[in-house]
Amino acid sequence: TNITYIMAIETSCDETAVAIIENGRIIRSNVVSSQIDTHRLYGGVVPEIASRKHVESITWIIQQALDEAGITTDDLSAIAVTQGPGLVGSLLVGVMAAKTLALALDLPLIGVHHIAGHIYANQLEQELLYPSIALVVSGGHTELVRLTEPGSFEIIGQTRDDAAGEAYDKVGRALHLPYPGGPHIDRLAHEAEHEVTMPRAWLEPDSYDFSFSGLKSAVLNTLNQAQMKGETIDPAAIAKGFQESVIDVLVTKAARAVQEFGASQLLLAGGVAANRGLRTRLAEVCSQLGVPLIVPPLSLCTDNAAMIGAAAQLKWDKQEFVSLDFKADPMLPL
Ligand code: KG4
Ligand code: ZN
Repeated sequence: TNITYIMAIETSCDETAVAIIENGRIIRSNVVSSQIDTHRLYGGVVPEIASRKHVESITWIIQQALDEAGITTDDLSAIAVTQGPGLVGSLLVGVMAAKTLALALDLPLIGVHHIAGHIYANQLEQELLYPSIALVVSGGHTELVRLTEPGSFEIIGQTRDDAAGEAYDKVGRALHLPYPGGPHIDRLAHEAEHEVTMPRAWLEPDSYDFSFSGLKSAVLNTLNQAQMKGETIDPAAIAKGFQESVIDVLVTKAARAVQEFGASQLLLAGGVAANRGLRTRLAEVCSQLGVPLIVPPLSLCTDNAAMIGAAAQLKWDKQEFVSLDFKADPMLPL
């Protein structure tokens, strides 16, 4: 038979994840073990704890992924792993596990860029069209990426300071919301009866870059000033003002990129893709532009290994493998 089974491993941040992908499109298993309950105690991801937790979990998650897929290591065609970017100690655990398996099982090894994974999560839903624009928004990333052909990426814009999700989480902390703040701010913004209007960082007129640290400071200043004056301020109104500013900039720039590059699809990826306001506004704008908006299901938007397997299939098709001395790269360029 001509079935390709890729085992994909993802440990770039605080999720230990292993998936088995059949022929690049079918998810045979997708096991994700989140460490979020541990990191929540500290209000954010603690890198040292993250790598230790990966070490504890990786072996049984590999076994569970095989069991759930109903295959054995004999059936595998290749091992794929996130090479970067991410936390170096976390990446190392996945890379070492992948190298060990590749060596022991005599299988080819595929190195995958984490953002390529987020983008190709969409391919698990439907065949991607080219050229496309992808908006990748997560706790670690805010990028507009132009896809010209399968496996070929160009970052046309990115954040110059905080990632969108990072800004959400920092504002969440200022509003005393649990970590991660993103979903809570999203909820508050929808309940809000008023909005405290916040500034938008458009940057240079033709730039596709983003900046969210000024917005974060504006929120903190508003909260501090209210406190100094002894005024109470509605957290929901702040959440709404913040969220409107983030969405306005993301949606406007993504729409401009779709038009300028004649994209046939807009792909959304990353954990912030869970944001209801963002999805709604992107869908509106895309229907005005007559371009389909593709959004993976939530379980494939947040960090997972199925997306790494989907991206790895492109390299399998080209037989593009890495050797056993390849290195995890926390700053890996796309
Ligand atoms: O992709 P992801 O799971 O991990 C990273 O690679 O960063 O993204 C997590 C980020 C967190 O910053 C979280 O606050 C944000 O996604 N997030 C949201 C929502 N759900 C999760 N941000 C805004 N609105 C949401 N509904
Ligand atoms: Zn991610």
